[in-house]
Amino acid sequence: MILVAEGVTKEFGGLVALRDVSFEAREGEILGVIGPNGAGKTTLFHCVHGMHRPTRGRVIFRGKAIQGLPPHRVARLGLARTHQIVRPLPELTVRENAAVGACYGREGLGLAKGLAAADEALAQVGLVAKRDVPAAKLNLGEKKRLELARALAARPYLVLLDEVLAGLNPSEVDAMLVTLRAVRDRGVTLVLVEHILRAVMGLSDRVLVLDRGEKIAEGPPDEVSRDPRVIEAYLGDPRAAARLVEGSGKGAGSSPPCEGTGA
Ligand SMILES: Nc1ncnc2c1ncn2[C@@H]1O[C@H](COP(=O)(O)OP(=O)(O)OP(=O)(O)O)[C@@H](O)[C@H]1O
Ligand SMILES: [Mg+2]
Repeated sequence: MILVAEGVTKEFGGLVALRDVSFEAREGEILGVIGPNGAGKTTLFHCVHGMHRPTRGRVIFRGKAIQGLPPHRVARLGLARTHQIVRPLPELTVRENAAVGACYGREGLGLAKGLAAADEALAQVGLVAKRDVPAAKLNLGEKKRLELARALAARPYLVLLDEVLAGLNPSEVDAMLVTLRAVRDRGVTLVLVEHILRAVMGLSDRVLVLDRGEKIAEGPPDEVSRDPRVIEAYLGDPRAAARLVEGSGKGAGSSPPCEGTGA
């Protein structure tokens, strides 16, 4: 197991955002994380990557307990993340933004090597043509790719992706799915939070489902999408429940954009 969470609980005052969540990611897999809005998905990523210290529980990455370590230390261990809200440094070029990931990444590269790692990452995400453009000039789809490039420039073992498909149009979603499979095929483990169920069910080897801070299922997409607890969690939104079943077929590609919160 490359990543193991054991009994992770996160309380904000009286609100329990995560309750006793345990899961594992296997080396080289794509693990999808789904659940209704407010289920605790982003909070789980924050607890794994050090933005939050879990109130209780342990997070083990490559055999080392990392709960409570600050994000820059977690990044140096080879665990990268992308953010739900993309905020590149607007005046720096695309290449310079990606290089930031390399400088704070697993190898802690200096600027020259960092720029070289950035070029490699930009090639992987298909952004080479925009290399010298200020990041502020990118459209949302390109900003999402830059966010992924910044994470990959760190040469991580594992990347946590928070809604990297949200707000993309159907052809951008399809292109991103191809990119993500290629990244995985290079040996990088991916854990991704997604609202676009067709995409996440088609892409993931296994899926973890959160609802109101609790894990309600973990397993292969076809199993999870037939799980009564999962269907019930989505019943508040019958369209989402329908998509859940329909999206469980392997190879399912795009679905209309705007299903994510985009927040
Ligand atoms: N810093 C915080 N302080 C207080 N409450 C918080 C904080 N961060 C998250 N929460 C609460 O924790 C719960 C889980 O939030 P979280 O952002 O993890 O959900 P999510 O599953 O990522 O939702 P979405 O799909 O909308 O992104 C919500 O009730 C949210 O309001
Ligand atoms: Mg979220």
